[in-house]
Amino acid sequence: MEKWKTQVLPPDEANIRLAAELLNQGEVVGFPTETVYGLAANAFDPQAVAKIFAAKGRPQDNPLIVHIASMEMLPPLVKDPPALAFQLAEKFWPGPMTMILPRSERLGDEVSAGLPTVGIRYPSSPTAQKMILASQLPLAAPSGNLSGHPSPTTAAHMLHDMDTHIPLIIDGGECQVGLESTVIQVMEDRVRLLRPGGITVEMLEEICPVEIDQGVLHAVDANAKVASPGMKYRHYAPIAEVTIVEGELPAFQKYMESVKGDGVYAMVFDGEEDGLCVPTLPFGQSGQPETQAHRLFDLLRQCDDLGAKKVFVRSPDRHGIGLAVYNRLLRAAAFRIVKLDDRKD
Ligand code: TXA
Ligand code: MG
Repeated sequence: MEKWKTQVLPPDEANIRLAAELLNQGEVVGFPTETVYGLAANAFDPQAVAKIFAAKGRPQDNPLIVHIASMEMLPPLVKDPPALAFQLAEKFWPGPMTMILPRSERLGDEVSAGLPTVGIRYPSSPTAQKMILASQLPLAAPSGNLSGHPSPTTAAHMLHDMDTHIPLIIDGGECQVGLESTVIQVMEDRVRLLRPGGITVEMLEEICPVEIDQGVLHAVDANAKVASPGMKYRHYAPIAEVTIVEGELPAFQKYMESVKGDGVYAMVFDGEEDGLCVPTLPFGQSGQPETQAHRLFDLLRQCDDLGAKKVFVRSPDRHGIGLAVYNRLLRAAAFRIVKLDDRKD
């Protein structure tokens, strides 16, 4: 792979133009979206798309999603989308929702890893929109992390993973949502949730029935045929062993006494730091999953910086974007869960 001196530049007009030129030359550029940073290339250029897979070390069977910045960009990418897709677009685009739709022949096999469908997203981030419009290209973009690492929510995270792999990262500051987009397969009369995110089940249900795919809350076999290939991979994982701990705070405090030791940390809700026998990482407000979503990936990266060996995490609520927080934690924890008995003796 080519070794670059990776530049990190603010999203002013000249730098957006530079990004657009690089994209038109078939290069890969890092860019901010409202969810996480992405690793973008021209979706119509198979060689550029191949560079994304190389830069990330991404398995070849894991398809990319394609980013647009106007509804006029949609028709060349898809074939006969169901009417429901337009209803959902009207309501939730631009925003953190990716729709899996039948793929047009104009898009090569590379983007979709040979699947007959393609994921399409219209991000709300003004910088992301400017880059798409300046390049006049639909941009194929996965999250901008090395495969298996937590998704980047700052340009610094992305530089950490992509330094020398790509020529440029546009720095748009911290991502607002902090977790990747909601991924849904769109059918005639309903949708199937493949990955929870900022557009929640509750929001989707205002438009149509929502089926929740098995893979959202359960481990899938590496050899299984799954609706979304990304579900198969251990994801979002720091080097430390992560465990989700279910139960009330007093039981959690007591449990930590039994597992404390060198390199052991507790991820707790804000205000729960006192009364724990190990160093804590505050993880957002209890009952406010937006704050947890915003901080989760940064905290998982901090675990690595601290040299954490084991991290025990308070189990979050699953309503709203809390389902997405829980889904990412399950994967970071490789589905390791401890259930504490809260009953008094
Ligand atoms: O918020 C996001 O979605 C970010 C930003 C950069 O837009 N992108 C992102 O891309 O998270 P990625 O590649 O890290 O995750 C996309 C997920 C993967 O799990 C992939 O397997 C699934 O979407 N996916 C993509 N195309 C698909 C398809 N045609 N059918 C089923 N699943 C698909
Ligand atoms: Mg990803």
